[in-house]
Amino acid sequence: MYEIIEEIIRRAGALVLSAHDIEDSVREKTSHCDLVTRYDSMVQDQLYRELLEAFPEAGFYGEEGDFCSIEGKSAHFIVDPIDGTTNFIRHARHSCISVGYRKDGVMEYGAVYQPYTDEMFTAQRGKGAFLNKTPIRMRNVPLSESIAMFGSAIYYRETIPATARIMSELLPIVLDFRRSGSAAMDICYVAAGRADVFFEACIRPWDYAAATLIAQEAGGVISALDGTPLRYIDRCSVAVGSPLNYPELIEIAKKVANEPDMKGRIR
Ligand code: IPD
Repeated sequence: MYEIIEEIIRRAGALVLSAHDIEDSVREKTSHCDLVTRYDSMVQDQLYRELLEAFPEAGFYGEEGDFCSIEGKSAHFIVDPIDGTTNFIRHARHSCISVGYRKDGVMEYGAVYQPYTDEMFTAQRGKGAFLNKTPIRMRNVPLSESIAMFGSAIYYRETIPATARIMSELLPIVLDFRRSGSAAMDICYVAAGRADVFFEACIRPWDYAAATLIAQEAGGVISALDGTPLRYIDRCSVAVGSPLNYPELIEIAKKVANEPDMKGRIR
């Protein structure tokens, strides 16, 4: 099954690479910073057709809303056709296709494909995490030895003060920050030891579902920023770290969440 999914994702990657006149089709979704292009819909359309042709019993939960059909299905795909859409629009060559597979409420499989570098991050539950079929493992280091990646949750303006507060707590401790514009890639970078910890105050399932399984299978710990399980069918905050730095991150996030002017600012 998973080989077939990866072939389908690679074909979607070829469509991303073939994109031209991207700027002509940019439009705003929820706000001036939440952008979408015709390629987001085209890539999702192709993934929808090919995945459901191969696995007709599965549901589909994708970023470009028209395609959601998970009602009454015990298994479904969770799909971001282009994670890092703003990077895509700016030709930054740092965007990916993210496909998760969730069955009976459990993440069974995740693949995150970066077509520009031809990097395919994958994981099956209980079977480890891989980059182009080579096993990957997270570095188990404390925050003081960590590169921190984060997402700004920019579509949820109410979260901005909490993100800034967590950053102000982390910055004096960590080695440095990175912000790439693709949450799925960030989390895979943590899984592969290119960075060490990730957080975002509010993010949607297609941005984190596949990548968090990959991080977990690479030896990481994943949850919302209050330590509760990820929700998968709803937006929530996300924390990803190693056994050593994850508890430190959660402690900081909880401290920030309890400050009087931070109530409700972390999902
Ligand atoms: C976004 C990116 C970004 C993260 C946002 C996501 P999109 O996904 O992953 O890094 O900060 O929360 O929504 O909109 O490019 O698919």
